[in-house]
Amino acid sequence: MKPRPWIVWVGICGAVVLAELILSSCASVQRTVLAPPEIEGATYVGNKVCADCHATVTRGFSASVHARLHFEGSPMAGQSGCESCHGPASKHVQSGGGRGRFIVNPRQDPATCFQCHLDVHAEFKLPQHHPVTEGRMNCTQCHDPHGVDIMKPAGGLAMARLNQACAQCHRDQSRPFVFEHEAMREGCTICHNPHGSINAKLLVQRDNNLCLRCHVQVQGAGNRIFIGKTDHTTRGDTSLRIGSCSTAGCHTAVHGSNVNRTLLY
Ligand code: HEC
Ligand code: HEC
Ligand code: HEC
Ligand code: HEC
Ligand code: HEC
Ligand code: HEC
Ligand code: HEC
Repeated sequence: MKPRPWIVWVGICGAVVLAELILSSCASVQRTVLAPPEIEGATYVGNKVCADCHATVTRGFSASVHARLHFEGSPMAGQSGCESCHGPASKHVQSGGGRGRFIVNPRQDPATCFQCHLDVHAEFKLPQHHPVTEGRMNCTQCHDPHGVDIMKPAGGLAMARLNQACAQCHRDQSRPFVFEHEAMREGCTICHNPHGSINAKLLVQRDNNLCLRCHVQVQGAGNRIFIGKTDHTTRGDTSLRIGSCSTAGCHTAVHGSNVNRTLLY
């Protein structure tokens, strides 16, 4: 029998203090779960049971966004959490637990995550993507499914954090430079989509358009084109004609440079 789709939603509330009043605003995001993970003959037992044997995993979980999911019209109604990713666990519990014992572990196969995050699945299908669907990487290298904070590593300034997650694997781009490119302070994701993109190098936009979002191109007297204080017409007009600011001969050191202030090399 084909499993019926469920509706899952999460209520995200924020409180705003205005003068003496506290206004709270809530938004809910609804998703359809295509097919929850199935384990033949098993039923849902709820989070409390897991805590008996998995205290470390359960500890921070109540603050995680996935602990706030609500399931309508499903066998998980009134519960939240663990079994939405790991599948119904009655047989796992009855058998005393154990690795590979009547339980789903989404580490190697992100299919469980994609059941709810269809948009993310679509990103990983784009021509350029981090090799997660190929099994060379997994979601948990950048996300913590059980932690207080789903973004890894937790703590610190949000943008600095994003760079740190990327730094584990991309040292060349993340190290400190003598001449920094200030754009890096916004985090890597200001220029790259961490999941996938239609553009080469996972860029959020193609060619000059990426740079011109922050650097204004100004037309001066005699049809001269200025970017910042620099006249780009006298430079053989390459950036503008080639269409890319970071091609050979131009600003190849987009992430920063130890030798050149204008990030040419
Ligand atoms: C958002 C989906 C998701 C939810 C919700 C979730 N988990 Fe997990 N769980 C994962 C993923 C992904 C892994 C693999 C982590 C890894 O090894 O990188 C995992 C791994 C585990 C492991 C194995 C840990 C190990 O050391 O190999 C246990 C035990 C576990 N989860 C228990 C739980 C319990 C208990 C809950 C509820 C409190 C829970 N999970 C909620 C996704 C989830
Ligand atoms: C009676 C104790 C017990 C209970 C209750 C229990 N587990 Fe486990 N579970 C274990 C043991 C033991 C392991 C193996 C851990 C290891 O080898 O490090 C395990 C492993 C796991 C794994 C890793 C499986 C793998 O193949 O990598 C997951 C995921 C998991 N449990 C989820 C859950 C969830 C979700 C619940 C609650 C619904 C739960 N467990 C309840 C004892 C239990
Ligand atoms: C049962 C459905 C369901 C499953 C399974 C699930 N998620 Fe989620 N997840 C949600 C919902 C609903 C939200 C909150 C709404 C949103 O921000 O998309 C959420 C939020 C998130 C967020 C935070 C988004 C933000 O903006 O803060 C991340 C990251 C995430 N999930 C990753 C994962 C990963 C990785 C897995 C698999 C290990 C997974 N999810 C499995 C339903 C699910
Ligand atoms: C290379 C690191 C990396 C990997 C691998 C990764 N993510 Fe993400 N993900 C991020 C970053 C960084 C953000 C925040 C993006 C932003 O704020 O611009 C994010 C955001 C999200 C969000 C919330 C925003 C959105 O795009 O909907 C979800 C949900 C999510 N990821 C799910 C997943 C799932 C599921 C997987 C595995 C299939 C995965 N991610 C793998 C880095 C990663
Ligand atoms: C766990 C290791 C890991 C993490 C963390 C990681 N990446 Fe990657 N990244 C890879 C791998 C593997 C590839 C694919 C390289 C290949 O195919 O040769 C890649 C490819 C890329 C590429 C494309 C390079 C090219 O030549 O096309 C970019 C850009 C990139 N990553 C940016 C990021 C950003 C931004 C982050 C943080 C949000 C990040 N990566 C986090 C491992 C990682
Ligand atoms: C100002 C925009 C911008 C920011 C911010 C940015 N990048 Fe890039 N990145 C680029 C461009 C443009 C390229 C392509 C350069 C080229 O054409 O070879 C690139 C290429 C890459 C590549 C591929 C390198 C190669 O040799 O193929 C990786 C990996 C990468 N970036 C990682 C990161 C990481 C990690 C961060 C954050 C620490 C980051 N980027 C921040 C614009 C940016
Ligand atoms: C998120 C905004 C942002 C993006 C996107 C961005 N930059 Fe920047 N860039 C800055 C800021 C801010 C500065 C420092 C102030 C200034 O010089 O305009 C800077 C400085 C520079 C400088 C040094 C200028 C000087 O005279 O010292 C160069 C060169 C540069 N960027 C090139 C690029 C290129 C090439 C791209 C596209 C790959 C790009 N930038 C994308 C924000 C950005």
